[in-house]
Amino acid sequence: MDYESSNWIWDGVYYYPHLFGGLMLTAALLGLSTTYFGGIGLSSLPYMWSDLGLFHKKKLEKKKRVRVYMDGCFDLMHYGHANALRQAKALGDELVVGVVSDEEIIANKGPPVLPMEERLALVSGLKWVDEVIADAPYAITEQFMRSLFNDHKIDYIIHGDDPCLLPDGTDAYALAKKVGRYKQIKRTEGVSSTDILGRILASCKDGNVIEDNSPRDAHEESHPSTGYISRFLPTSRRIVQFSNGKGPGPNARVVYIDGAFDLFHAGHVEILRCARQLGDFLLVGIHTDQIVREHRGKHHPIMHLHERSLSVLACRYVDEVIIGAPWEVTKDMITTFNISLVVRGTVAESDSWLKSGPDPYSVPKNMGIFKMLESPKSITTSSVAQRIVANHGTYMKRNAKKTASEKKYYAEKVYVAGD
Ligand SMILES: *[C@@H]1O[C@H](CO)[C@@H](O)[C@H](O)[C@H]1NC(C)=O
Repeated sequence: MDYESSNWIWDGVYYYPHLFGGLMLTAALLGLSTTYFGGIGLSSLPYMWSDLGLFHKKKLEKKKRVRVYMDGCFDLMHYGHANALRQAKALGDELVVGVVSDEEIIANKGPPVLPMEERLALVSGLKWVDEVIADAPYAITEQFMRSLFNDHKIDYIIHGDDPCLLPDGTDAYALAKKVGRYKQIKRTEGVSSTDILGRILASCKDGNVIEDNSPRDAHEESHPSTGYISRFLPTSRRIVQFSNGKGPGPNARVVYIDGAFDLFHAGHVEILRCARQLGDFLLVGIHTDQIVREHRGKHHPIMHLHERSLSVLACRYVDEVIIGAPWEVTKDMITTFNISLVVRGTVAESDSWLKSGPDPYSVPKNMGIFKMLESPKSITTSSVAQRIVANHGTYMKRNAKKTASEKKYYAEKVYVAGD
């Protein structure tokens, strides 16, 4: 059994775009650095660089690692993106992901909900991503493609099965196809950014996020007023594909953190990274839809339990999730999972639990194993939703157009075999 404990926490490596001149390396070194990076602090990273480069070359000489590239905007990143990148990674050994710049997104489809920094944090936080290129072009240019092949040593460019046309109507991947360095993955997931944007807009009335905490009607659907129908069909296979499939090793220190993790965002990635650093195994409890609804109002959560679970599972700092965790951290849970430490971020959606009702953390607090973690970022699910609401008109219009084209996609969708 592989009990290798995880020294692969890469403190903020992805905050070095300036140092690496636009090229951001995150887990670039993932395969080879497990032992090399253990315990090395942030500050020493840049100096390690040349050594690692050498080591990398030696390794390459032994066995050529296939490097694949995929790009995207990754705005309102969801488990569909994560799944596409998982499939892309399976086509090679190292996955390099290009994240389209804010400017290019603005020029091509209007302002992104998430700025570059947050989109990078989300993409870098995915366990299948080895390297990230910031500020990729929206439509792949011939020049950029050559730089991918020559400078970034990319073997194959991967794209979904939707056609990608350049402004002049030609196929953006024509060159890559011609030289036999193009591979395609199938779009299968029942979610899109358009869909999520639609859910958020639907949960708003007249440009306001509905923040009612009115008692929940037990028979109500989660989005009763909007008629929204999810196309998400959660399968056990997808959960297995996203899982690490490993329990904590012997003597592992298990850290537990729970929450809704709705609209998985950069703040979540950061707090999970901090939590993971406090132990050897991070167990994440995802609250049920009903619990989230009780605490945040009937239009929440935006993403359902299984969707939220996949987003959390896709995060490189997470070892295991409880799909539908109780509100209260019980003595039994602590024993069952051998939890050494229960943590909670200082930035949370709502503090109402503090004021009313029993403290869900009273057991770990009494045991002396509870710790508040300073949240590195102030982003919350509602702050992300608020950005959309603030740009209500723009997003409404954009979404109407995209919803129409997605309807067409679903109407013409055919069965595709494979992952
Ligand atoms: C339970 O966790 C502690 C760390 O807090 C560890 O020392 C102990 O070995 C773990 N128990 C088992 C059976 O792994």
